[in-house]
Amino acid sequence: MDVISVIRTKRDRGELSPEQIDWVIDAYTRGEVADEQMSALAMAILLNGMNRTEIARWTAAMIASGERMNFDALSRPTADKHSTGGVGDKITLPLAPLVAACGAAVPQLSGRGLGHTGGTLDKLESIPGWRALLSNEEMLNVLDTTGAVICAAGDGLAPADKKLYALRDVTGTVEAIPLIASSIMSKKIAEGTGSLVLDVKVGTGAFMKTIEDARELASTMVALGTDSGVRTVALLTDMSTPLGLTAGNALEVRESVEVLAGGGPSDVVELTLALAREMLDAAGIKDADPAKALADGSAMDVWKRMIAAQGGDPDATLPVAREQHVVTASASGVLTRLDAYDVGIAAWRLGAGRARKEDPVQAGAGVELHAKPGETVTAGQPLMTLHTDTPEKFDYALQSLGSAYDIAPAGTEFTANPIVLDRIA
Ligand code: URA
Repeated sequence: MDVISVIRTKRDRGELSPEQIDWVIDAYTRGEVADEQMSALAMAILLNGMNRTEIARWTAAMIASGERMNFDALSRPTADKHSTGGVGDKITLPLAPLVAACGAAVPQLSGRGLGHTGGTLDKLESIPGWRALLSNEEMLNVLDTTGAVICAAGDGLAPADKKLYALRDVTGTVEAIPLIASSIMSKKIAEGTGSLVLDVKVGTGAFMKTIEDARELASTMVALGTDSGVRTVALLTDMSTPLGLTAGNALEVRESVEVLAGGGPSDVVELTLALAREMLDAAGIKDADPAKALADGSAMDVWKRMIAAQGGDPDATLPVAREQHVVTASASGVLTRLDAYDVGIAAWRLGAGRARKEDPVQAGAGVELHAKPGETVTAGQPLMTLHTDTPEKFDYALQSLGSAYDIAPAGTEFTANPIVLDRIA
């Protein structure tokens, strides 16, 4: 097998054979295929695609590059959720303890933010003492004792994807549906969950800008999961405007705790409950009521135990950024658009996100929204508060908010996008 013939096959729009796929993934993981060769192949895949047979084999080869976890010893059925990433997407935080409170075990291997999308681990690390890195044994122990664990994926899980994802990130090859689907599903299948709910985001703040692309990604991932014996369902959900009223790390933890206390913004509550119902259904738990588990405090109890089991103090005061800047409404009327991407970029520039994987993030930085599309605003009223420890970042963040919102004359009809746009099972 030689790598140049593999690259040429895909460059010339051919179908990669199972042997070619197994070999190239293994040889790349071992360092025999160089980064520049793999990036040429990734670009050929981005341009010419892969069919479902190729994608399934590519995913299997990435799973085979590392270890597989197994939760068979647990007394509860396992259910996991994966979001393709968005702005203000803090849903994992209330969702994992909520679904655990309803009887499932939730092994939630999560990631860090990159670019304008936030990362669950960065958010949770704003809680004093909380640790993202657990050994497999620690992870199983937290899962077994509290019902839920949110932590970083260990180095042994799909190492081919780790290497390939870092390469795609710097070679303009992230946005290829076959590569995204195989990247996400190789980790989820290797993790060993029995059921999986995918939250595929659609809109300006998401990877998938159109509903057609989101459907294609979702149905590819559902097929990969189902063919591997994981009960998999996908919701396509709106990411044209930020979820909830915060985008940032500690800011989003605070909002998640409000949801667990029975309050919080209605869109966050609605999506949390919709995903919880899907996870419980996929796990075969029929008689639980997640709305009740939010209202009666049982989800909050699991949250506190889960955070404490990973060294965090669930009652500690969360970090607050040193400086604030208020953005006011430029006119009176109905707020008809508040762009998720622009708000995400502002939060990132304020210090909530990172430009390179090794950059630190500011726990208190981000954007707090005071109005959402559909609300009536008055000229001069606060629309957003920007938070950062480094006030010299305000100007740069404000540049991304220059055309982030529209205000139409009072009385203008406004119809909000539904949160859940479609379901693929
Ligand atoms: N998340 C992943 O894990 N992989 C991708 O390719 C894109 C998003």
